[in-house]
Amino acid sequence: MKVAIIGGGGLVGSCAAFALQCGGIVREIALVDVNAELAGGHALDLIHGSSSTGDQKITGGGMEVAANADMYLITAGLRRKPDESRLDLINRNVELFKKLLADVKAHGLKKEAHIFVVSNPVDVLTYLAVKDLGLPPCQVYGLGTVLDTNRLRGLLADSLQLPPTQVQALILGEHGDSMVPVWSAAQAAGLPLDKYPGVTTQVLSEIEKRTRGSGAEVIKKKGGAGFAVGIAIRDVIHAVALNSGRILPVSSLMTGQYGVRDVCFSVPTVMGRAGVLKTYEIELWPKEKMGLQASARVLRETIDKVLK
Ligand code: 2OP
Repeated sequence: MKVAIIGGGGLVGSCAAFALQCGGIVREIALVDVNAELAGGHALDLIHGSSSTGDQKITGGGMEVAANADMYLITAGLRRKPDESRLDLINRNVELFKKLLADVKAHGLKKEAHIFVVSNPVDVLTYLAVKDLGLPPCQVYGLGTVLDTNRLRGLLADSLQLPPTQVQALILGEHGDSMVPVWSAAQAAGLPLDKYPGVTTQVLSEIEKRTRGSGAEVIKKKGGAGFAVGIAIRDVIHAVALNSGRILPVSSLMTGQYGVRDVCFSVPTVMGRAGVLKTYEIELWPKEKMGLQASARVLRETIDKVLK
């Protein structure tokens, strides 16, 4: 599978490229950027390590290196300031995103190609991509709350001194201020998380708060997220490349799940080679379901503003 990383010169795109190289699953990684020299530099740096990672083709440059891609990973866009919400980016990133989509179409977008959106506000831009490109909706999806879910799991493990890979938790809805942690699903090693030593409502509430603010915290500390976003992107792309059927909270077009339609956001989603294979509408606590519906309203309002 060839993945073209639009914005491959940036922090998110280059970390995604490195995660895909270390993962060794995709056949070809093309880093694409308006700064073709920078994208070429990242590609060269990756090639320098390739003899010890895997037999992948790695290129870097302008849109010409994206030719015949099976997946376009769109990471390009302006980053928000720590005190801005992701939705605040909407006015700056929508025009850039529409130009990107036009450029992708102009360079021979295959009808079976996938569009995987990471740029923010990711749920709104994913919706725009679904409407603009005319591809089957299953082939257009966003990173959604995969990163937030990984952050919550990692912060819970770090705080409770539990092995991160054995901590299960889930965040659904908007990748943004209205995200919905699903505490009814939280567990460690198959046992309810709230039964573990040291777990109190206060502790969980503090970790939830830190998870919500993690994007801004990382921007403040180091200018923006990179490593964890790259890993979250890798998880989704590997599920597609391997047709693994993994259930991940990617952002896709809602068609009635939890009473939500005609917005893109994250619900439990089965990912495979065709993209979004199906979604699960697992019973949630009433307040979790109401949170999802509130999240959908926020996104609908923003989409209506952008599309008016
Ligand atoms: C974040 O939360 C980039 O939106 C991404 O760091």
